Amino acid sequence: MKIDVLTLFPQMLDGFLSESMIGRGLKHGILDVAVHNLRDWSKGKHNQVDDRPFGGGAGMVLMPEPLFDAIEELQTPQTHRIYLAPDGDPLTPDLARDLAKKERLLLVSGHYEGIDDRVRENLIDQEVSIGDYVLTNGTLAAAVLIDCLSRFLPGFLGEEKSLTNESFQDNLLDFPQFTRPAVFRNMPIPEVLLSGNHAEIEKWRQREREERTRKRRPDLLEDSP
Ligand code: ADE
Repeated sequence: MKIDVLTLFPQMLDGFLSESMIGRGLKHGILDVAVHNLRDWSKGKHNQVDDRPFGGGAGMVLMPEPLFDAIEELQTPQTHRIYLAPDGDPLTPDLARDLAKKERLLLVSGHYEGIDDRVRENLIDQEVSIGDYVLTNGTLAAAVLIDCLSRFLPGFLGEEKSLTNESFQDNLLDFPQFTRPAVFRNMPIPEVLLSGNHAEIEKWRQREREERTRKRRPDLLEDSP
Protein backbone atom coordinates (compact mmCIF):
# COMPACT_ATOMS: atom_id res chain seq x y z
CA MET A 1 0.00 0.00 0.00
CA LYS A 2 1.19 3.51 -0.80
CA ILE A 3 0.37 6.34 1.61
CA ASP A 4 1.03 10.02 0.95
CA VAL A 5 0.86 12.34 3.96
CA LEU A 6 0.37 16.07 3.45
CA THR A 7 1.32 18.10 6.53
CA LEU A 8 2.88 21.36 7.70
CA PHE A 9 5.01 19.41 10.18
CA PRO A 10 6.73 16.56 8.30
CA GLN A 11 9.42 16.13 10.96
CA MET A 12 6.80 15.02 13.47
CA LEU A 13 6.72 11.73 11.55
CA ASP A 14 10.47 11.04 11.40
CA GLY A 15 10.76 8.79 14.47
CA PHE A 16 7.43 7.14 13.82
CA LEU A 17 8.44 6.07 10.33
CA SER A 18 11.91 4.81 11.22
CA GLU A 19 11.25 2.83 14.41
CA SER A 20 9.72 -0.47 15.36
CA MET A 21 7.12 -2.28 13.27
CA ILE A 22 6.36 0.63 10.91
CA GLY A 23 10.08 1.05 10.19
CA ARG A 24 10.28 -2.67 9.45
CA GLY A 25 7.15 -2.62 7.26
CA LEU A 26 8.65 0.20 5.20
CA LYS A 27 11.97 -1.61 4.86
CA HIS A 28 10.22 -4.81 3.75
CA GLY A 29 8.10 -2.92 1.22
CA ILE A 30 4.80 -3.90 2.86
CA LEU A 31 3.89 -0.26 2.90
CA ASP A 32 5.38 2.83 1.34
CA VAL A 33 4.91 6.24 2.96
CA ALA A 34 5.82 9.57 1.37
CA VAL A 35 5.60 12.70 3.54
CA HIS A 36 4.99 16.04 1.83
CA ASN A 37 5.34 19.53 3.29
CA LEU A 38 2.33 21.67 2.42
CA ARG A 39 4.58 24.74 2.44
CA ASP A 40 6.15 23.43 -0.79
CA TRP A 41 2.90 24.47 -2.52
CA SER A 42 2.69 27.93 -0.96
CA LYS A 43 2.97 31.00 -3.13
CA GLY A 44 4.38 34.43 -2.42
CA LYS A 45 7.49 35.48 -0.66
CA HIS A 46 6.41 34.61 2.88
CA ASN A 47 5.45 31.01 2.11
CA GLN A 48 2.02 31.77 3.55
CA VAL A 49 -0.38 28.82 3.85
CA ASP A 50 -2.92 30.16 6.36
CA ASP A 51 -5.01 33.27 6.86
CA ARG A 52 -7.61 34.77 9.22
CA PRO A 53 -11.12 33.28 9.08
CA PHE A 54 -13.84 35.15 7.20
CA GLY A 55 -16.50 36.23 9.68
CA GLY A 56 -13.92 36.81 12.40
CA GLY A 57 -12.85 34.66 15.29
CA ALA A 58 -9.64 33.34 16.73
CA GLY A 59 -6.97 31.33 14.97
CA MET A 60 -5.92 30.78 11.42
CA VAL A 61 -7.39 28.68 8.62
CA LEU A 62 -5.40 26.84 5.97
CA MET A 63 -5.94 28.58 2.63
CA PRO A 64 -7.57 26.66 -0.22
CA GLU A 65 -4.97 27.28 -2.92
CA PRO A 66 -1.94 25.40 -1.54
CA LEU A 67 -4.20 22.52 -0.51
CA PHE A 68 -5.94 22.33 -3.90
CA ASP A 69 -2.58 22.48 -5.70
CA ALA A 70 -0.96 19.85 -3.46
CA ILE A 71 -3.87 17.39 -3.47
CA GLU A 72 -4.36 17.71 -7.23
CA GLU A 73 -0.67 17.01 -7.77
CA LEU A 74 -0.43 14.09 -5.34
CA GLN A 75 -3.68 12.26 -6.08
CA THR A 76 -4.01 9.45 -8.60
CA PRO A 77 -7.23 7.78 -9.86
CA GLN A 78 -6.68 5.08 -7.18
CA THR A 79 -6.22 7.50 -4.30
CA HIS A 80 -8.67 7.56 -1.37
CA ARG A 81 -8.33 11.06 0.11
CA ILE A 82 -8.73 11.38 3.86
CA TYR A 83 -8.81 14.52 5.99
CA LEU A 84 -7.98 13.99 9.66
CA ALA A 85 -10.43 15.96 11.80
CA PRO A 86 -12.13 15.64 15.18
CA ASP A 87 -15.54 15.73 13.46
CA GLY A 88 -14.72 12.84 11.10
CA ASP A 89 -15.77 9.17 11.18
CA PRO A 90 -14.50 7.56 14.40
CA LEU A 91 -11.48 5.31 13.80
CA THR A 92 -12.47 1.73 14.67
CA PRO A 93 -10.88 -1.64 13.87
CA ASP A 94 -13.49 -2.15 11.13
CA LEU A 95 -12.63 1.18 9.50
CA ALA A 96 -8.89 0.43 9.75
CA ARG A 97 -9.42 -3.00 8.15
CA ASP A 98 -11.40 -1.42 5.28
CA LEU A 99 -8.79 1.27 4.69
CA ALA A 100 -6.01 -1.34 4.68
CA LYS A 101 -7.64 -2.79 1.52
CA LYS A 102 -7.18 0.46 -0.43
CA GLU A 103 -4.41 0.66 -2.96
CA ARG A 104 -3.43 4.22 -2.15
CA LEU A 105 -4.26 6.78 0.54
CA LEU A 106 -3.63 10.50 0.80
CA LEU A 107 -3.80 11.71 4.41
CA VAL A 108 -4.34 15.44 4.74
CA SER A 109 -3.47 16.94 8.10
CA GLY A 110 -4.92 20.31 9.07
CA HIS A 111 -3.95 22.60 11.91
CA TYR A 112 -5.36 24.99 14.48
CA GLU A 113 -8.86 26.11 13.48
CA GLY A 114 -8.94 23.87 10.43
CA ILE A 115 -8.86 24.18 6.68
CA ASP A 116 -10.97 26.09 4.18
CA ASP A 117 -14.18 24.10 3.86
CA ARG A 118 -14.08 24.17 0.05
CA VAL A 119 -11.21 21.67 0.27
CA ARG A 120 -13.28 19.34 2.46
CA GLU A 121 -16.30 19.65 0.18
CA ASN A 122 -14.51 19.12 -3.12
CA LEU A 123 -11.31 17.14 -2.69
CA ILE A 124 -11.81 14.85 0.31
CA ASP A 125 -13.42 11.40 0.11
CA GLN A 126 -13.61 10.70 3.83
CA GLU A 127 -12.88 12.39 7.13
CA VAL A 128 -11.50 10.41 10.05
CA SER A 129 -11.24 11.25 13.76
CA ILE A 130 -8.99 9.32 16.13
CA GLY A 131 -11.05 10.29 19.20
CA ASP A 132 -13.23 12.86 20.90
CA TYR A 133 -10.49 15.33 21.75
CA VAL A 134 -8.78 18.07 19.75
CA LEU A 135 -5.11 17.84 18.77
CA THR A 136 -3.06 20.88 17.76
CA ASN A 137 -2.80 19.43 14.25
CA GLY A 138 -3.70 16.25 12.42
CA THR A 139 -0.18 14.89 11.91
CA LEU A 140 -0.20 12.63 14.96
CA ALA A 141 -3.70 11.53 13.97
CA ALA A 142 -2.32 10.54 10.54
CA ALA A 143 0.41 8.54 12.31
CA VAL A 144 -2.17 6.80 14.49
CA LEU A 145 -4.24 5.92 11.43
CA ILE A 146 -1.20 4.55 9.56
CA ASP A 147 -0.13 2.51 12.60
CA CYS A 148 -3.60 1.12 13.15
CA LEU A 149 -4.30 0.10 9.54
CA SER A 150 -0.80 -1.29 8.93
CA ARG A 151 -1.52 -4.13 11.32
CA PHE A 152 -4.16 -5.33 8.84
CA LEU A 153 -1.79 -5.37 5.85
CA PRO A 154 -0.94 -8.92 4.73
CA GLY A 155 2.51 -9.91 6.02
CA PHE A 156 2.83 -6.92 8.35
CA LEU A 157 2.48 -8.86 11.59
CA GLY A 158 4.88 -11.77 11.75
CA GLU A 159 2.32 -14.12 13.22
CA GLU A 160 -1.08 -13.61 11.59
CA LYS A 161 -2.47 -15.14 14.77
CA SER A 162 -1.65 -12.06 16.79
CA LEU A 163 -4.75 -10.42 15.33
CA THR A 164 -7.16 -13.10 16.46
CA ASN A 165 -7.39 -12.72 20.24
CA GLU A 166 -6.60 -9.08 20.78
CA SER A 167 -8.77 -6.39 22.31
CA PHE A 168 -11.80 -5.23 20.26
CA GLN A 169 -11.69 -8.15 17.78
CA ASP A 170 -14.88 -9.51 19.33
CA ASN A 171 -16.04 -6.82 21.76
CA LEU A 172 -13.80 -8.26 24.51
CA LEU A 173 -10.59 -6.82 25.89
CA ASP A 174 -7.38 -8.87 25.84
CA PHE A 175 -6.39 -11.35 28.58
CA PRO A 176 -3.41 -10.66 30.90
CA GLN A 177 0.03 -11.82 29.75
CA PHE A 178 3.02 -12.99 31.80
CA THR A 179 6.57 -13.99 31.00
CA ARG A 180 9.51 -15.34 32.96
CA PRO A 181 10.23 -15.52 35.84
CA ALA A 182 7.18 -17.44 37.10
CA VAL A 183 7.63 -15.84 40.52
CA PHE A 184 8.82 -12.22 40.64
CA ARG A 185 9.22 -10.40 43.98
CA ASN A 186 6.95 -12.90 45.61
CA MET A 187 4.29 -12.48 42.92
CA PRO A 188 3.49 -15.80 41.25
CA ILE A 189 1.73 -16.02 37.91
CA PRO A 190 -1.63 -17.84 37.73
CA GLU A 191 -0.89 -21.55 38.14
CA VAL A 192 -2.98 -22.66 35.17
CA LEU A 193 -0.44 -21.05 32.83
CA LEU A 194 2.19 -23.53 34.02
CA SER A 195 -0.11 -26.55 33.73
CA GLY A 196 0.55 -27.30 30.06
CA ASN A 197 -3.21 -27.94 29.73
CA HIS A 198 -4.12 -25.90 26.67
CA ALA A 199 -7.87 -26.35 27.01
CA GLU A 200 -7.77 -25.08 30.61
CA ILE A 201 -5.52 -22.19 29.60
CA GLU A 202 -7.96 -21.20 26.85
CA LYS A 203 -10.87 -21.35 29.30
CA TRP A 204 -8.97 -19.21 31.81
CA ARG A 205 -8.07 -16.65 29.15
CA GLN A 206 -11.65 -16.38 27.97
CA ARG A 207 -12.88 -15.91 31.55
CA GLU A 208 -10.24 -13.19 32.14
CA ARG A 209 -11.27 -11.40 28.96
CA GLU A 210 -14.91 -11.37 30.04
CA GLU A 211 -14.03 -10.28 33.57
CA ARG A 212 -11.75 -7.47 32.40
CA THR A 213 -14.33 -6.21 29.92
CA ARG A 214 -17.07 -6.24 32.59
CA LYS A 215 -14.86 -4.26 34.97
CA ARG A 216 -13.16 -1.84 32.59
CA ARG A 217 -15.42 -1.40 29.58
CA PRO A 218 -18.97 -2.60 30.32
CA ASP A 219 -20.10 -0.42 27.39
CA LEU A 220 -18.50 -2.93 25.00
CA LEU A 221 -20.75 -5.71 26.31
CA GLU A 222 -23.86 -3.56 25.91
CA ASP A 223 -22.95 -2.93 22.26
CA SER A 224 -22.45 -6.62 21.42
CA PRO A 225 -25.09 -8.27 19.24
N1 ADE B 1 -7.05 16.85 14.29
C1 ADE B 1 -7.22 17.46 15.47
N2 ADE B 1 -7.83 16.66 16.35
C2 ADE B 1 -8.05 15.48 15.71
C3 ADE B 1 -8.65 14.24 16.08
N3 ADE B 1 -9.16 14.03 17.30
N4 ADE B 1 -8.70 13.27 15.16
C4 ADE B 1 -8.22 13.48 13.92
N5 ADE B 1 -7.65 14.61 13.51
C5 ADE B 1 -7.56 15.61 14.39
